[in-house]
Amino acid sequence: MTQLSVKHLLGIKDLKEEDIQLIFETADNFKTIINRPIKKVPSLRDITVANLFFENSTRTRISFELAQKRLSADVINFSSSSSSVSKGETLIDTVRNILSMKVDMVVMRHPSPGACVFLAKHIDATILNAGDGTHEHPTQALLDAYSIKEATGGVTGKKVAIIGDILHSRVALSNIYCLQKLGAEVMVCGPSTLIPRHIEQLGVKVEHDLRKALEWCDVANMLRIQFERQDIKYFPSLREYSMQYGLTLDILNSIDKDITIMHPGPINRGVEITSEVADSDYSIILDQVENGVAIRMACMFLLAKHKE
Ligand code: CP
Repeated sequence: MTQLSVKHLLGIKDLKEEDIQLIFETADNFKTIINRPIKKVPSLRDITVANLFFENSTRTRISFELAQKRLSADVINFSSSSSSVSKGETLIDTVRNILSMKVDMVVMRHPSPGACVFLAKHIDATILNAGDGTHEHPTQALLDAYSIKEATGGVTGKKVAIIGDILHSRVALSNIYCLQKLGAEVMVCGPSTLIPRHIEQLGVKVEHDLRKALEWCDVANMLRIQFERQDIKYFPSLREYSMQYGLTLDILNSIDKDITIMHPGPINRGVEITSEVADSDYSIILDQVENGVAIRMACMFLLAKHKE
């Protein structure tokens, strides 16, 4: 397989296992390239990409922009807070205006689930979802699975626990789809108020006890509490949450095996994970960030090739 089966990257749900493997093989090549003294290749030289961020981002926005620059694309950055969206312009009008300036590819983060699917139906450019509300964050899941492969030798047969606020997390859903397509077993762990009802229908195990989840897994992906998406209180206090679900070095050291610790960021140190764990040898958090650039280069390169 040399081409992706999809024209847009809207979610992991739409990808086949072979698509993910192709993205990983392509990312391997780009990872070699970006570690050389000359890090730039001309692969997207004639492509213009617009990064449309309707929601805050640090890692994803910078990682996409760096990936585009490494591929020699022309880049336009848009953030809704400093745009005419605040004057009442609709999403479709905003994007159509940007596209009339001959943009080929759109990377979009938006607070509404399905915003990228909507856009793909109405405009001609290639769309990459950089996170749509509580729905999907496909490049995060791809870089997470790629980092698990790199750290542990493979994803197939691995036991991965996703721990924290599953209810409001797009990272959790995309990770579940991606890891299962690659043959991993997935568990979600957190208080019952932060676990979506019927999630076991996706084929995941559900656990409410952090220690039991850690004893089961090879890899623990710690998620933050997404206060910005919560309209009611889901647990009595942050202190109580961190006492029950906060990952400490004491808990890790008391378990009779090494577990790979991940976090998509942003980290709330002292809540879902202590600094001691985040900065320990168990943690591959900064490897995830590094791998994000190669994964995003691979996605954009392969989607541009699909359009040729
Ligand atoms: N992991 C992630 O999506 O981080 P940002 O919100 O900073 O992009």
